[in-house]
Amino acid sequence: MYTDIKDFSEHVDKEVLFHGWVYNVRSSGKIMFLQIRDGADFAQAIVAKADVSDEVWAVAETLTIESSLELKCIVSKHPKKEEYELQVSEVTPIQISEEYPIGKKEHGPDFLLNNRHLWLRSPRQWAIQRVRNTIINAIYEHLNAEGYIKIDAPILTPTSCEDSTELFEMDYFPGDTEGENDKAYLTQSGQLYIEAAIYSHGKVFDFGPVFRAEKSKTRRHLTEFWMMDVETAFANWQDNMDIQEKLIHFVIKTVLEKNVKELEVLERDTAALEKCLQPFKRMSHAEAVVELQKLGSDIKPDEDLGGDDETTLTAQYDVPIFVDKYPAKVKAFYMPPDEEDPTRVLCSDLLAPEGYGEVIGGSQRIHDYDLMVEKMKEFGIDREPLEWYLDLRKYGSVPHSGFGVGLERLVGWMCGTKHVRETIPFPRMINRLTP
Ligand code: 4AD
Ligand code: MG
Repeated sequence: MYTDIKDFSEHVDKEVLFHGWVYNVRSSGKIMFLQIRDGADFAQAIVAKADVSDEVWAVAETLTIESSLELKCIVSKHPKKEEYELQVSEVTPIQISEEYPIGKKEHGPDFLLNNRHLWLRSPRQWAIQRVRNTIINAIYEHLNAEGYIKIDAPILTPTSCEDSTELFEMDYFPGDTEGENDKAYLTQSGQLYIEAAIYSHGKVFDFGPVFRAEKSKTRRHLTEFWMMDVETAFANWQDNMDIQEKLIHFVIKTVLEKNVKELEVLERDTAALEKCLQPFKRMSHAEAVVELQKLGSDIKPDEDLGGDDETTLTAQYDVPIFVDKYPAKVKAFYMPPDEEDPTRVLCSDLLAPEGYGEVIGGSQRIHDYDLMVEKMKEFGIDREPLEWYLDLRKYGSVPHSGFGVGLERLVGWMCGTKHVRETIPFPRMINRLTP
């Protein structure tokens, strides 16, 4: 009974009913231009004083920005462009909006974040969430086509997966369980759990919220974000990079195809994304350090790349860069040493161009029981809550690899946003838990 804006073209010169919101209103006193939206699209509706009754005009004059309404109107086609307008005959407000706090003038980030529940309606924010939706679905589509099975990893865990200093701890039935399990931690990554699932399905992935008590206030860090972990049996660290490259190519292609309008709203340089459909650059951590030092960084050969290093390095290339074989001590306990240089591990980070930096972290996993026990000892990791993880190395263990995609970083890169906080509907950061 109501016509969506996307279907206006099928109703030219016909009467339709519309329901949605006014995102802007302008009146000359004789003609009123209503910029309207229905959630999926934007259009213009025109109320001409000469063509409507005095009552209708009076009602139209009460409309404010963000009012919700119903309109009865005739659809007309723009004489030159593929655009459709509404000539309004009746106006029925659903709710007349109070003065909308987000206007055309520049607002500071805190103001916008405090009003995140309203800011989500702004065109840029609208576009970002739609690109996010495309990316999520593209990842599912691609991985399903490649034979991956989605496995849901738990969110409450008894131990850490990555850096234990960044764990959110909570009481978990203290005193009720005879000293056991009276603490729980919010998951940092589903990786360890989906490693178990490769032994039943071969290729698996998860997708869910993960938590890091990161004290860093950078444009790349959230305390709650969404991760896709992918895990593949019989894949080594190099196969792992091929799998990532294919996945990211598919994501870029899909976004370019499905989000033309959104990328336009975001004023995204799509040529920069198209260039990334080429094979990705690959270099070792050692090579990256040499290049960074030449570019003026004070990074040492045994150090992790800092955010600034990633920005500098990625600015040198048009395509994403896989940096592999990081020093063992800057990476997680489960990564196997490189036989050629045991101080390094068989891992890779994928760094996105245009200064975006790390969007994926991945590695081969130690599949030998004794080596895993040794490495856990070396990293000071309590094996008791991870006995089950060690068990996996006893029953048909095989070489395997996986990676975790940080969804918000990927969305930020596709959309060209400055800060990851815009890429998640309700960002959680060290200094923000509301709205
Ligand atoms: O590199 P990370 O820490 O890797 C893991 O957690 C592995 N267990 C994944 C795996 O192998 N299955 O995190 C993976 C990705 C990073 O590359 C980054 O994109 C994102 O997660 N990420 C964050 N995104 C937003 N805010 C933070 N605080 C993030 N920390 C990591
Ligand atoms: Mg990482």
